[in-house]
Amino acid sequence: MSTTQLESEAQSDLFSPLQISDFQLKNRIVMAPLTRCRSDDNNVPTDMNRLYYQQRATAGLIITEGAQISPQGAGYPNTPGIYNIKQVQAWKKITDAVHEKGGRIFIQLWHVGRVSYPGIQPNDAPSLAPSAIKAEGTYVQPRAIELAEINDIVDEYRNAAENAMAAGFDGVEVHAANGYLIDQFLRDCSNQRTDHYGGGYENRTRFLLQVLDAVIKTCGSARVGVRLSPVNAFNSMSDSNPEALFSYVVEQLNPLNLAYLHLVEGQIHDENEAQTDDVFDPKCLREIYQGRYMSNLGYNKASATAAIQTEKADLVSFGDLFIANPDLTERFLLDAELNKTDLDTRYGGDEKGYIDYPLLPVTN
Ligand code: PHB
Repeated sequence: MSTTQLESEAQSDLFSPLQISDFQLKNRIVMAPLTRCRSDDNNVPTDMNRLYYQQRATAGLIITEGAQISPQGAGYPNTPGIYNIKQVQAWKKITDAVHEKGGRIFIQLWHVGRVSYPGIQPNDAPSLAPSAIKAEGTYVQPRAIELAEINDIVDEYRNAAENAMAAGFDGVEVHAANGYLIDQFLRDCSNQRTDHYGGGYENRTRFLLQVLDAVIKTCGSARVGVRLSPVNAFNSMSDSNPEALFSYVVEQLNPLNLAYLHLVEGQIHDENEAQTDDVFDPKCLREIYQGRYMSNLGYNKASATAAIQTEKADLVSFGDLFIANPDLTERFLLDAELNKTDLDTRYGGDEKGYIDYPLLPVTN
């Protein structure tokens, strides 16, 4: 093996920089999108949110919590939006704070579709979904989106992407995972449409590709990532053939030259059984995808390093670990002990369990 090969292998770990888009990430450690329900009652990010993101700016890339693209896109209280001027101004303070610390930040564009509650939707209207099929639990019965309404929702994504650029984000991640609107179009448990948005894979993927097209035209493909979760059953999701469906979806992503594909490689909340069908390991999608691949779910320093060294991933995102360890990057670097995540303060509340996790003492 030549010296050059040895050197490049030695460089390939969690701490090696990576070029995505027209800028370089300083390492491969990504903060995964995390719903925290701590924006204000008008869905505007707060100073507390700003500090939270700034504390985590040593990640190579931060992906924000899902930010709804419209009032209808919300499914939980106090999640931030990215559809009005107050939200843009508040996010601008956050992107400035992260950039000041040398970090990079993408915003996740979110529409929950049918995963919404009475009291969350404007005028208590039914939530919107590809088909009028309710998710299990206390959700409202959704109303099937009319064909003529689809372009309006695509326009909401476009506006949100414009707002994201105005707010100073380095890019956007289109949330097409975890049983929310775009995923509801992709998988056949929730999409039984008889028009050209339902039926075969091409039809079910149409909405995702339209959204990506609109967002790419706004931001440029190098500033757009997408998140998929092929076997995640969270939010009552399943598909009759996830391997064929998601292989098709990923093939369609190849020509788009996105910043990255972000893959949730299993089941996110363990109260449900993952839809693995024994035969389909979503990690095999890495073989199909030709661009930057970001792995997510349950990684630690060792498994993430192994994934990067064996080229199973270009980037790895960490969720729970970033909740409790704002300085996760430094802790990984030093092999320092990790704080434990307090699940009671995960969703909603105040500073506690949000911006008060201890940092390592600074040693210069
Ligand atoms: C959650 O709040 O549990 C949640 C939100 C968005 C996701 C996944 C999980 O994509």
